[in-house]
Amino acid sequence: MRYCQQCGQLYADGATFCTQDGQPLHPGGLDLEPGTMVGEYQVTRKVGAGAMGDVFAGVHPVIGKRVAIKVLKETLVADQTMVQRFVQEARAVNAIGHPNIIDVFAFGQLPDGRWYFVMELLEGESLEDLLARRAISVDETRRYLEQVCAALGAAHAEGIVHRDLKPGNIFIATPRHGATYVKVLDFGVAKLIRGAEGALSLKTGAPIGTPCYMSPEQVRARRDVDRRSDIYSFGVILFEIFTGRVPFMHPSHFQVLSDHVTELPPVPSSIRPVPPRLESLILRCLAKDPGSRPQSMRDVEVELALVFENEARELRHVLGGESTNRRMAAVGEVVVPQASASGAFESAQSGAHHSSPGPPAEGATSQVATVPRRGLLSSPAWLAALVLAGALLIAGVIFLVRR
Ligand SMILES: Nc1ncnc2c1ncn2[C@@H]1O[C@H](COP(=O)(O)OP(=O)(O)OP(=O)(O)O)[C@@H](O)[C@H]1O
Ligand SMILES: [Mg+2]
Repeated sequence: MRYCQQCGQLYADGATFCTQDGQPLHPGGLDLEPGTMVGEYQVTRKVGAGAMGDVFAGVHPVIGKRVAIKVLKETLVADQTMVQRFVQEARAVNAIGHPNIIDVFAFGQLPDGRWYFVMELLEGESLEDLLARRAISVDETRRYLEQVCAALGAAHAEGIVHRDLKPGNIFIATPRHGATYVKVLDFGVAKLIRGAEGALSLKTGAPIGTPCYMSPEQVRARRDVDRRSDIYSFGVILFEIFTGRVPFMHPSHFQVLSDHVTELPPVPSSIRPVPPRLESLILRCLAKDPGSRPQSMRDVEVELALVFENEARELRHVLGGESTNRRMAAVGEVVVPQASASGAFESAQSGAHHSSPGPPAEGATSQVATVPRRGLLSSPAWLAALVLAGALLIAGVIFLVRR
């Protein structure tokens, strides 16, 4: 089964393009057929898919309310305790009633056992898709960032940490009536999937989504992950918006995770002419030690306001020009082997090194090549294992030739 991301139309396996709008078709298909009832709502089409599950549009058959239904992959939800905690957290997030946080209003289990939650259906696109499509203006950037800061600040004030902040979870809603606004999605989902620390799934080969925005303490599966982990992820987003790339890029997820723990990020102004005050803010957000980061979203918001007020002209040069997002081209889709799951980075070195920034806009491949391969993958243990494998291979060949 294949489907069109644009209109949700379903096609047989051999089909390649949507006959309605000419868009390329995506694999995976719609396992919830249109018309399927999910709780009180009837599925109408597929909206998209992420690492953690699929999102469908639905409608209430009687009152016509339109909703989005996120169905989580069955392999990902660990246990009932996590489910209970997720429900509690969804309740707490709803209680905040913040205009920039998505409203989740139902939660349940499909007959096949998969968990789902129901939220408001938004028109628009994620910041990830927007960044990939076009450059965003200084005013837009300011508005979006202010709203993300406000949403996170409100959640943090209630002791709630997002744990999976990334452009894919920042939705730029463009309603038919009224102004564009931000909604932060997927609060608490990382905790549901990854456990209380928001660390990696312990299940063998479980996909973890993109590791580009994970804080060092999340990678190390520390128990004391707090709001400052979101501030780190926000720093990665700032880095990406203003330089056009994420700080750590590598086709191997494992290497990216390792870099979060051991490598200093490239200096933003070596990639684009990022003003010093903004550069300092980004680098402080990306500090390995949570104690060296800005301590609240409010602090970040105040700093950002100063940057936008005083350096608007410089920012126009930084943000103008081509669409900037090259992250997806740089990070391959791989799964994490069990050995690398939570805690594997505990023994990583505490000293960090600055990554080479690489040339600014030569495309993903050349940039990846300029990021030094350091950390776990280049450790002596790996080298020793490679040498041993080579020696065994040669011994095997000699043995066969002699026979
Ligand atoms: N409430 C919503 N209304 C409209 N579209 C939504 C809604 N929630 C999610 N989407 C869209 O559905 C698609 C899939 O979202 P999803 O959250 O599953 O993916 P993701 O954020 O890329 O990955 P992850 O699984 O790590 O969260 C994205 O394009 C997203 O923008
Ligand atoms: Mg998401």
